[in-house]
Amino acid sequence: MNYTVVLPAAGSGKRMKADKNKLLLELADQPIFLHTLAVFERDEACTGIWLAVKQSEQAIIEAYVREAGFTKVRGYATGGKERQDSVRACLELIPACEVVLVHDAARPFIEPVVISNLVQTAYEKGAAIAAVPVKDTIKRAVDGKVLETVAREQLWTIQTPQAFRYPLLLQAARQALADAFLGTDEAMLVERLGEPVHLVESTYENIKMTTPDDLVYGKAILEKRQ
Ligand code: C5P
Repeated sequence: MNYTVVLPAAGSGKRMKADKNKLLLELADQPIFLHTLAVFERDEACTGIWLAVKQSEQAIIEAYVREAGFTKVRGYATGGKERQDSVRACLELIPACEVVLVHDAARPFIEPVVISNLVQTAYEKGAAIAAVPVKDTIKRAVDGKVLETVAREQLWTIQTPQAFRYPLLLQAARQALADAFLGTDEAMLVERLGEPVHLVESTYENIKMTTPDDLVYGKAILEKRQ
């Protein structure tokens, strides 16, 4: 099943303690976002890649893409203040397709098998998101005092990619804008339309490069895979 991928890449480097977009930081001699792009460039089912970027960074990102010889990048949208705005900008730009995948450009370690499971499930059921079971004990607390321990069996950590029938996600994104609703992932926008969202099991290696520690962990993952 073919799909189009939207990669939000218009964030900052604040939590990474970097003075530039963390995606431009190098991991094994390549900016982080190029590792992510490479996964989709190699995937035969991926028919087009669209990036949301900051206007001020578009030229440098385009230059990296050209130099890497990638051929599937179809276009760039101007990112917005929130990640949700960046994703919506892309969704408004891409040609209609059956399945669209949204994936953080900051998650370079996504496994191809997870992508294909997501795309297939979204095609059949409308919406599918990458998830891993919660490993730690989770407690609800206020002012440092525990209120309760939450049963872990039903808890999942949610990642990207998140895959959707394209018209469904576009409708959800437009509705969220109209309602000034800000979600923490795309699935939330679809959930509020009353549509079911299905989990697809992912891997713990699919980390989002967020803090300086992740650069160390990321390097270890790359070395292990080589
Ligand atoms: O900041 P965080 O790591 O959670 O962002 C997840 C992804 O969303 C990153 O790839 C980042 O570049 C992107 N993003 C964006 N526009 C924003 C904020 C984040 O495209 N306004």
